[in-house]
This record gives sequence, C-alpha cells and structure tokens, in this order.
Amino acid sequence: MRTAIIDPIGLDNLHLVERPAPQPGPGEILVRLRAASLNYRDLIAAGGGYGSMQKQGDLIPLSDGAGEVVELGPGVSRWRIGDRVISCFCPDWQAGPPLPGCFDHDLGARCDGVAAELRTFREDAVVEIPESLSFHDAATLPCAAATAWHALIELGEIGPGQTVLTQGTGGVALFAVQIARLAGAEVFALSSSDLKLDRLRALGAAHVINYRADPDWGKTIVKLTGGRGVDHVVETGGGDTFRQSLRAVRIGGMISVIGVLGGARAELNIPVAIMQNVRLQGISPGSRAMLRELVAAVVQHRLAPVIDRVFPLAELRAALEHLRARRHIGKICIDI
Ligand SMILES: NC(=O)c1ccc[n+]([C@@H]2O[C@H](COP(=O)([O-])OP(=O)(O)OC[C@H]3O[C@@H](n4cnc5c(N)ncnc54)[C@H](OP(=O)(O)O)[C@@H]3O)[C@@H](O)[C@H]2O)c1
Repeated sequence: MRTAIIDPIGLDNLHLVERPAPQPGPGEILVRLRAASLNYRDLIAAGGGYGSMQKQGDLIPLSDGAGEVVELGPGVSRWRIGDRVISCFCPDWQAGPPLPGCFDHDLGARCDGVAAELRTFREDAVVEIPESLSFHDAATLPCAAATAWHALIELGEIGPGQTVLTQGTGGVALFAVQIARLAGAEVFALSSSDLKLDRLRALGAAHVINYRADPDWGKTIVKLTGGRGVDHVVETGGGDTFRQSLRAVRIGGMISVIGVLGGARAELNIPVAIMQNVRLQGISPGSRAMLRELVAAVVQHRLAPVIDRVFPLAELRAALEHLRARRHIGKICIDI
C-alpha cells in the first residue's frame, strides 16, 4: 500500500512510500482510507513542534480520515465489511469528561495518522459515516468541527439569542460559524481579508470585521453589542488575539481557548479577568461520544462543510504548503 511518511521529522522529509498492508489484530478493523483533511496541527507535527509529545520520525501524518472497513480482526463485533467510518482524534477518550491518558494516542502526532491507503483501528476508535455524507465531507469532522462542537455546544451550551465571536476563516472558525448558526446564535466574525468576509456573511455571520483594518476590534465588538460584549469567543488566534478577546467578551462570558495561530503565549490581565468574571476554557477535539453527536447534527441540519480544495495523496506536501500560506477558506482535503 502507498503511505505518506515524514522521516526524519520536518516537512521537507515528507515522502510517499510503499509498505506492506497492515493486518488487523484482535479487536481491530482494517480500513481502506478514501479521504483525509488537513488541520493546522499537521503543520506543527510535521515540524516536530509537539516535541516529546509526538513521534520524531517515521510518522504517518494527518489525524482526520474517512474510509471503508475491508477486513475484521478476531473478535470484532461492531462493524461489518463495507461499513463507512471516520477516525476519532483521541481514541482513548470515549465519553464523559477528559481523564488522564485520554490524549495518549492522538493520530498524526503521538501515533501514526491516516495519510495512507490502509490503516488498522481499534474497533472503538472510529465512528460510522451516515449515508448522506461523502467521504470528503466526513473527513473534515474529527478535529476542527469536533473542536468547535465541544466549545460551543458541549461546554458553551450556546443557544438562540446568544452571541459568538469567531476568528479567521480556517477549519475551526468556519465550523464555529456554522454550528453557532444552527444553534440559533448571532455570529460576529473576523478575517484579515475583505473577500473572505463576504464568504463569512454568506455562511450566516451577522457582523464581520477585518482584524487587520481594525486592530482594536475588541472595542468595536463591545460597541456593536450595545456595550455588552459577546457571550462566547472561539479563540483561535492565540498570542495575537487573546487581549482583544478578553475585551470583546461580556461579563460572565466564556472564552474557548483553542488555537495558537498568532503565537503560543499571551499576557493575561488578571484584574480584567476577575472583574469580567470571565470563564477561560481550554478546549480539545473531544470524545468519541461528542463526535457521534456532531455527525448526527451535521446530517440532521444538512450542514455542508466548506471545502476549499482537494489534493491527491501524491500532492500532500503541496496541500500542506497551501494550508501554511493561509489562502484557504475552511478545509483542505486529500483524496486517497
Ligand atoms: N485545541 C484544539 O483541540 C484544537 C483543535 C483544532 C485546531 N486547534 C488550533 O486552532 C487554530 C486553528 O486551527 P485550524 O486548523 O482551523 O487553522 P487554519 O485552517 O490553518 O486557519 C488559518 C486561518 O486562521 C486565520 N488566522 C491566521 N492567523 C490569525 C491571527 N493571528 N488572528 C486571527 N486569525 C488568524 C486566517 O484566516 P483569515 O485569512 O480569514 O484571516 C487563516 O487563514 C490552530 O492554532 C490550531 O492549532 C486547536
């Protein structure tokens, strides 16, 4: 089978190689992968950015894959040959709150990922794809969409009449816009590009702001909300945005701390956080149970993931460069 390999770690060392087909062990299934999608973290992992928390060589990249079951290992009871499945980002987190060890086998960093024609999975490490979802649409869900779902629905409990702020037009941000809209919330969305702001409006954002043209956008959000601030900030900008986010959120509101696009460190003005009674909530992509709920909601609400471009597996390097250039809107997919 063909697989992408990064060895030694570093994007320049990404190759396609032939490997023997893996064999499913007891309790495992063999999946013929058909599609994958990229996340910003794939660039971090390709560069070895997770340090000792990731494989430093011979890494099969990418966490989000969709395909069909082609072989069952001994004792498998949940799946049949031909079933269509997506990968869980953290297979050790099945349900309930996160517990120590639940991130120990994240795909495409600590463990091999899905940029391969065949991969074995524990039978509880995948979720069924409903008939109405294509492999490509399904492959966009395990990381970016699940993170937005975890933040807004599972922990944020966002609903009609509430307000949500999103940052940029990457995978997490666009799913946050779509999920906030399906929950009935009003969306305030930021982007660096006026063209992309039009796309955000088309997706249902009620208010859009160019964060380059208006670097003091936290103040603008307060003005636009009649002095109140937003209920929920989906914080993906990190170092560049955190200070403005703290300004934009309402008293008693929530900042979902998710991303590091503009740097991994930010200064916290502690008195402001205290006086604002703000809730800072670290977010990860969530449990298998959350992914199943997300998939059900995507189908029920006919949510269409925004796919910017599809590259063949042989052009994975070019796809990652496209992600790094930040010209995309939404998700970049890989055809396997
Ligand atoms: N905690 C978790 O579990 C989790 C899960 C998924 C992702 N993440 C993190 O969340 C972030 C987003 O991931 P992603 O995969 O959605 O990324 P992505 O698709 O690569 O998003 C890139 C887009 O974000 C916007 N952006 C870039 N720098 C920005 C900045 N300084 N301030 C505001 N917006 C900025 C740009 O949009 P415009 O061109 O429109 O400005 C850019 O095109 C990453 O840091 C990633 O590591 C965390």
